[in-house]
Amino acid sequence: MSGTSSQSSRPGLPGFVSLASDGGVAARAAASRPASPLASPPALDGMFGPYGGQYVPEHIKPVLDELAATFERYHADPDFLAELDYYLTRYSGRQTPLFLCANLTARLGGAKIYLKREDLNHLGAHKVNNTIGQILLAKRMGKKKVIAETGAGQHGVATAATAALMGMRCTIHMGAEDMERQKLNVFRMRMMGADVVPAMSGQRTLKEAVDEALAAWLGDAENTFYLLGSAVGPHPYPRMVRHFQSVIGREARAQMLEAEGRLPDCAVACVGGGSNAIGLFADFIGDAGVRLIGVEPAGRGLTYGDHAATLCMGSPGVMHGFHSYMLKDETGEPAAVYSISAGLDYPGVGPEHSHLKDMGRAEYASVTDVEALDAFFVLSRTEGIIPALESSHALAHAMKLAPAMGRDAIILVNLSGRGDKDVAQVEEMVSAGLVTPPTL
Ligand SMILES: Cc1ncc(COP(=O)(O)O)c(C=O)c1O
Repeated sequence: MSGTSSQSSRPGLPGFVSLASDGGVAARAAASRPASPLASPPALDGMFGPYGGQYVPEHIKPVLDELAATFERYHADPDFLAELDYYLTRYSGRQTPLFLCANLTARLGGAKIYLKREDLNHLGAHKVNNTIGQILLAKRMGKKKVIAETGAGQHGVATAATAALMGMRCTIHMGAEDMERQKLNVFRMRMMGADVVPAMSGQRTLKEAVDEALAAWLGDAENTFYLLGSAVGPHPYPRMVRHFQSVIGREARAQMLEAEGRLPDCAVACVGGGSNAIGLFADFIGDAGVRLIGVEPAGRGLTYGDHAATLCMGSPGVMHGFHSYMLKDETGEPAAVYSISAGLDYPGVGPEHSHLKDMGRAEYASVTDVEALDAFFVLSRTEGIIPALESSHALAHAMKLAPAMGRDAIILVNLSGRGDKDVAQVEEMVSAGLVTPPTL
């Protein structure tokens, strides 16, 4: 495996300089990075070990090849990077802070818990890092129309916003069930001019939204840019989404060195398709001393149909145009999945995570709905930060790890999004007596 992606995204390159206006912290962080084969950027050829690839109809390959060529041409181009940097900084408000949860840490009585505050991005989640990057590529390709799928609605909202910003037409496919769970996000997308189309087939959640968005795109691939929301799909999407999300780990690494003078013991993130997790992990993969932990939804428990813990419970297969771990039913088709969290209930996962799991470089754990809800309430009460239900999975796992670690240990959690979108759903559950907030 070879390539240029993460080399070219190092601080110090044109366009990223102002993201690291930090008195040289990022430059020192880059200099302290050990030379490791694990640090080499992956998937110039679309493969992460045996995973990834392009399992698509023949007539789509040229469209993907054109996208790959556009990405390779621009991703390290100084003008492209300057424009990307402009929107990340001025539109989304980067860099996002690193926050020490002093109250939560004291309460748990073990490792220090730091949050990478991706919830403070414009629109409330990490998704915008990727939509800005991809829409700038769409612009260079002369596309006037974007199409996307969404689960929790956060990627849909980020796509609708960036399409509005760039004056492009936008269609979002979303499972009818998720539209119900995330009504506010549907309204936000429509306010910003997007056409939101319900996916009515199957379980009417994220998998069906991807199926229907892909079908719509295949019908008009010449004119439409498919703005994929996670590090999944056929090449070049996993490589491209990783690249645009790697700003998370690059900033977090530098900020951690500045705050603590050392790297964290663990970097923890929730995993749906895997974009916020790979964005966090990307800059730590070469640091063997940093445990990389992805957290999947165990839902109601790890029995068929009750969870979406793809890496913990699945096996390799092909879905949505790429080879990776997936959850299958007895006929080998994508399994029925479930999570309280609309952004995590997907039966597949990004190919790089499959490779990191097989290599033993990253670990994957799972957290139930109940544990995630507990973390949702605990962070709100202890720190005054309401986390997204997706991010609450990562936090819940960190809360399990922290008490068993020494007080000088450090856990870095990616707070991928804010929980405002989930408050109505949780309030209904509390009102119906299905959930009781913990008394702290
Ligand atoms: C806030 C938030 N975090 C995490 C995710 C999961 O996506 P990914 O695994 O690609 O980061 C979503 C998906 O919608 C989300 O909205």
